[in-house]
Amino acid sequence: MRKIGITRIALAFAAVAMLSACGQDEEAAAPAGGDTAAAEASTEVKAQIEARQAQYKKIGGAFKTINDNLKSGSPDIAAIQAAAASLPEIAATMGDWFPEGTGPESGVKTEALPAIWENRADFDQKIAAFQAAAANLNTVAQGGDVAAIGAAFGATGGTCKACHDNFRLDD
Ligand code: HEC
Repeated sequence: MRKIGITRIALAFAAVAMLSACGQDEEAAAPAGGDTAAAEASTEVKAQIEARQAQYKKIGGAFKTINDNLKSGSPDIAAIQAAAASLPEIAATMGDWFPEGTGPESGVKTEALPAIWENRADFDQKIAAFQAAAANLNTVAQGGDVAAIGAAFGATGGTCKACHDNFRLDD
């Protein structure tokens, strides 16, 4: 009986000691350490979001170049070809532009919708469809046939829209 009693007291003491030690650790370390970690994370998240927005601006710029030339009476084929060639290159890494935590919950200004992370497989399919259309547009553009380029351009534009409709704010 006596032995069991001492063991119980020892266990109870150990448990209390552990609890209070943990509590003290959290109180002492969490606020300062947590803030630093959060600040570092948000700097990285902000950089990731701004980097992808810059990439989409490049895609938008290349797309505008092609569109403007197709609409003009005398399209600059070389300009169309250069712009079309840039698209598959820029888009090759698109699947890496949306790591977890880079949505609107980050507090950083972004038009990326939470649906991206809720329906990731669908989003990845939209990326793949765009990459395939952009690769085809580039191949056709290098051929130089304006009518064929127009058709491939329209098809590629459809894949931009298909993604924006579901995964980009206000578009
Ligand atoms: C798989 C999805 C997807 C595809 C395909 C896609 N976009 Fe986007 N786009 C987005 C998302 C998401 C954003 C918002 C990014 C952000 O704000 O963080 C965006 C943003 C943009 C922006 C705004 C960039 C800025 O911040 O100023 C432009 C311009 C743009 N896209 C053009 C295009 C064009 C043109 C195409 C096709 C040639 C295209 N996108 C294809 C998902 C896509």
